[in-house]
Amino acid sequence: MNHQKTVFITGATGGIGKATAIALAKQNYRVVIQGRNEEKTAAVCEEIKRLSGNDNIDYIIGDLFLMSEVKKVAQTYTQRYDRLDVLINNAGGIMSKERKETTESVETTIAVNLLAPFLLSELLLGVLKKSDDGRIINVSSNSHRLNAKPDFDDLELKNNYNPLTAYGNAKLLLIWMSQHLSGKLIQGSCENVTVNTLHPGAVATNFGVNSNLGGLLNFFGKLARPFFKTPEQGAETIIYLATSEDVKSISGKYFENKKIKTASQKYYSQQNEQLVWDYCNKRIKNTHCVLSNKNRSIVMLGEPSLRAHRR
Ligand SMILES: NC(=O)c1ccc[n+]([C@@H]2O[C@H](COP(=O)([O-])OP(=O)(O)OC[C@H]3O[C@@H](n4cnc5c(N)ncnc54)[C@H](OP(=O)(O)O)[C@@H]3O)[C@@H](O)[C@H]2O)c1
Repeated sequence: MNHQKTVFITGATGGIGKATAIALAKQNYRVVIQGRNEEKTAAVCEEIKRLSGNDNIDYIIGDLFLMSEVKKVAQTYTQRYDRLDVLINNAGGIMSKERKETTESVETTIAVNLLAPFLLSELLLGVLKKSDDGRIINVSSNSHRLNAKPDFDDLELKNNYNPLTAYGNAKLLLIWMSQHLSGKLIQGSCENVTVNTLHPGAVATNFGVNSNLGGLLNFFGKLARPFFKTPEQGAETIIYLATSEDVKSISGKYFENKKIKTASQKYYSQQNEQLVWDYCNKRIKNTHCVLSNKNRSIVMLGEPSLRAHRR
């Protein structure tokens, strides 16, 4: 490695994100983690330093339910650092039995699992482009196959909300958004930045623990837990995507167990992928997180009017 590479990992206060942060710190990456609770995140930062012997660990605080906070997280990152080699959008999870909206009026599952990765990737693209090997890794889930049932007129499930469907949908849309972003980066001559998604496996973490999914799901979740992967095992495909030369120029793919797998095609069409991309663009504008074009990296590739102009 010529220079010390920098990785930024969201949701690294526990579970798979923390295991990834420790492993990459041991491989001498400069590791920046995001958490929402300062005390907890600072303590994890110290723990990573102690376990890895690497002092180049930092943290940024922000609640990724809110696009205004995503924006602040990105601003803090770009004020402190002028480059980024690997962005791991890992924060996420299944939400509660009852449908909830953030204070920006976005359904919570889609906010943290889809819109936050979309916006953070966009806002950090400027620093990622400075890397000769920039990588965006979006943590999806096999739930996109098992539980997704998207209603394209109601992506935020105002009607018929169910936490599993909301989660499966968000992870499916995350795959499509990532594929689309990958295409835009190639069209925009940003081939030095790749975007891939993955399923980490069923991993024994805090995932779903505080979600109160209801009797049966809670029961089966507890029953299956002893058979789950450890967080360290769950981190393996992320670490592979972050570090391996084998995937250096692979983009827009979905991985399981360090192998490319075809994501579910059940609801896929190019139009639906475009619809999700447009939804993300529109939704971040509606959350009062209006970005001036000067601060946007993907807008030049994403706005319909400019797209038409480029053709
Ligand atoms: N575990 C599995 O079996 C499994 C399977 C497939 C996919 N995944 C995916 O893997 C990723 C990591 O999950 P995990 O299993 O490690 O779960 P976890 O132990 O619950 O960790 C989730 C992480 O995300 C953070 N987070 C959640 N909501 C956030 C928000 N609004 N703003 C900022 N941070 C937030 C949490 O921070 P706090 O500490 O502040 O709560 C925590 O650090 C998730 O995207 C999940 O969907 C997990």
